[in-house]
Amino acid sequence: MSGFDFDLVVRGGTLATAAEVLEADIGIKDGVITALGRNLPRGAEEISAKGYIVTPGGIDPHTHIEEIGQDGSVAEESFSSGSAAALAGGTTSFICFLPQWKGHTLAASAPGYEARAKASRADYSFHQIITDPTPEVLEKEVPALVARGIRSLKVFLTYDPLRLDDAQLLQVLATAKKNGAFVTIHCENYDAIGWRIDALLKAGLTDPLMHAWSRPPVVEREATHRAIALAELVDQPVQIFHVSCEEAAAEIARARRRGVKVWGETCPQYLTHSHDDLQGPDFAGAKAVCSPALREKGENERVWARILDGTLDIVSSDHCGFSFATAKQAVGASPYGVGGAVSRPDGRPAFNAIPNGVPGIETRLPVLFSEGVSKGRIDLPTFVKLSSANAAKLFNLPGKGSLMPGADADLVLWNPDAERVIENVALHHAIDYTPWEGFAVKGWPEVTIRRGQVAMRHGEVIAEEGTGRFLARGPYALAKPRGVVPDGFDAALA
Ligand code: URP
Ligand code: ZN
Ligand code: ZN
Repeated sequence: MSGFDFDLVVRGGTLATAAEVLEADIGIKDGVITALGRNLPRGAEEISAKGYIVTPGGIDPHTHIEEIGQDGSVAEESFSSGSAAALAGGTTSFICFLPQWKGHTLAASAPGYEARAKASRADYSFHQIITDPTPEVLEKEVPALVARGIRSLKVFLTYDPLRLDDAQLLQVLATAKKNGAFVTIHCENYDAIGWRIDALLKAGLTDPLMHAWSRPPVVEREATHRAIALAELVDQPVQIFHVSCEEAAAEIARARRRGVKVWGETCPQYLTHSHDDLQGPDFAGAKAVCSPALREKGENERVWARILDGTLDIVSSDHCGFSFATAKQAVGASPYGVGGAVSRPDGRPAFNAIPNGVPGIETRLPVLFSEGVSKGRIDLPTFVKLSSANAAKLFNLPGKGSLMPGADADLVLWNPDAERVIENVALHHAIDYTPWEGFAVKGWPEVTIRRGQVAMRHGEVIAEEGTGRFLARGPYALAKPRGVVPDGFDAALA
């Protein structure tokens, strides 16, 4: 017995929750917030939060970490480095992906992945990717997965090795409905992209900017519309991943007005970056190749407007790092590619063969805080909703994204006045660049506390490998269908 009411008191901070901003101390016992109030009794340990804004620890619900390729290759970002980067950037929990390779069961596609994740320093959960919805997968493996607390499925409507056609998407949506699972969707029209890629290559256009030309907003809008329509047909709640443009966001907003249970996510790159970043000397544009593609400059503010009207209510990183020196300039079969491994005369990959994805797990929250709160676009409760509270609700992570007594003591102490310039050398991820190199931010996470333990202090990650916990997710109301199907005939359950 320590004789103290609290193991830790975080004293004198300005607390920001999804609902309000208040001055209070936080009392923590056994990793859980047990009291909020002024002048709490002393704790065994004390941290002064004077001058800091204290938010719930970030939840990044869309990250690609230590992904295993079909050929046995392992992505550069390990659970150790990725989770260190998460904590350094104020994120205490993340969700990453269990793979499925076409022609393989779920079990055979992810050998050892869950065991690898145990190296995480931050708390974590999984979405299960479905690329090959066979009866075995849908009828046996998905129910078993859900029973293990993996309650969300991810599907892609593009990428050669991953994409589903409409019939397969309907099967996955129906299976999710039967099993009380949630579905997240990458929305781009695969055939339209392939058609444009062929024409661009034929015209000799191979630069990284052509990645954007191969998949303009209409390609994302069409697939977003189609995915929502099919989800509405099945009556299955879904989230549209990484919305990059107003056209796609408008589809979500329109469906929500009809009462459809659809949510939208965007990412910092769609708030700050544009076609400009796909250009530059020495193939630098490859660093900004991700899908959906970066849009023309004015689009950033239109995406912000869709955050402000609530259509896009989660900002994830879609952290998917490929180092520039190696992967981004290598011609090979990319897990996230369309149209095969085409090379240019200079030996670098044509735009369609550059692996898709940008790193951002560490920069997500500093960029969002700076561009959002410091620049006056959003208030602190909105920042909390976008960075943690809404993800906790959408993916059923009780005890996360909150500062209420009973919640896990996952906290971030922000210095709202700190002015920094983002530099890759100071980041903790395993990737050799950041798209935000030289980007000035105001507001910085100085201390991250994960379940009551200081996990990062002034850039030094203290949490050890293996201290993160798997977050199993149970049934929840938000993932429940509305009970509205055409003609009252529920084809999913027939
Ligand atoms: O370009 C991206 N977004 N790469 C990661 C894979 C995905 O589509 O989420
Ligand atoms: Zn995607
Ligand atoms: Zn992704």
